[in-house]
Amino acid sequence: MGASRVAVIGANGQLGTDLVKALDGWDLVPLTLADVEICDYAQTRQVLELIRPDVVINTAAFVRVDDCEEEVGQAFSVNAFAARNLAQICADLDCTLVHISTDYVFDGQKREPYTEEDLPNPINVYGASKLAGEHFVRAICPKHLIVRTSGLYGKAGSSGKGGNFVETMLRLAKEGRPIRVVDDQVLAPTYTKDLAGVITSLLQSPEIGLYHATNAGHCTWYEFAGRIFDLLGLHPTLTATTTTELGARAQRPRYSVLASAALNGRLLGARRWEEALQAYLLETGRAIASAKADG
Ligand SMILES: NC(=O)c1ccc[n+]([C@@H]2O[C@H](COP(=O)([O-])OP(=O)(O)OC[C@H]3O[C@@H](n4cnc5c(N)ncnc54)[C@H](OP(=O)(O)O)[C@@H]3O)[C@@H](O)[C@H]2O)c1
Repeated sequence: MGASRVAVIGANGQLGTDLVKALDGWDLVPLTLADVEICDYAQTRQVLELIRPDVVINTAAFVRVDDCEEEVGQAFSVNAFAARNLAQICADLDCTLVHISTDYVFDGQKREPYTEEDLPNPINVYGASKLAGEHFVRAICPKHLIVRTSGLYGKAGSSGKGGNFVETMLRLAKEGRPIRVVDDQVLAPTYTKDLAGVITSLLQSPEIGLYHATNAGHCTWYEFAGRIFDLLGLHPTLTATTTTELGARAQRPRYSVLASAALNGRLLGARRWEEALQAYLLETGRAIASAKADG
């Protein structure tokens, strides 16, 4: 792609923060919500026309899955119509739009990893709004990359969700609270630092189109929590629960592991989620319990 100037939208979010680090040395313009409100077409156009980027990476989203069920207008406004705004502006500026999407575009009925060829069928408002965003990007902006990922955690913590799953588990353990985590939703947890590396690699190749990018392997949220505690030698009261028992407002796919037929294991596939989790814990200053580190 031979990219030179890259604008990152959502630059202080969880993925945005790691993208800004991964793109160190590039002609980078980090944009936070204070710089650009992507729901505002005129303002977004004005900001991007001044920057004249070769690539815009959109990490901004309304990510609170349960809240999306009630705040349908806001979910579609940020996840779909703002993506349409960016697609139109990028098309007019002849620049590439990299748009981040989600495993929640799938219904979870499959029992083997979803590839880029599989038909989406969202079962909650968040997934529907993100899929609508994908359609706008694909239909309007000829030079686009749509990157679907899952179960993100990163050092910045999701600003939209107020932390990430790993930090929530560690906080609950510290508070000595009993912890109940669903054991019937299977996913590929993904470290935003690894995902940022993949996106950076994609920018250096002539790729366009749709890509799935996650850490390798899969687990349930309960297994993910167990692994966090094992790695740190912690022993909180952790109990497996079910999606039905938990009764969250939004339905969630029971199985949303993504495989990349398109990337074909060339990029992110190399590092498994357990390894990435250990790296995250080390990089956030935690001591790994040596007995568990190799497990
Ligand atoms: N988190 C997950 O587990 C997960 C899983 C699969 C896919 N994804 C996708 O991955 C992407 C990144 O997620 P993330 O976890 O990094 O999210 P995040 O931490 O919540 O970051 C989103 C960023 O976008 C900004 N933003 C929100 N609304 C905006 C708007 N209208 N205009 C401009 N900026 C806006 C936020 O700014 P403020 O902080 O100032 O509000 C924040 O910096 C999203 O597309 C999400 O759908 C996430």
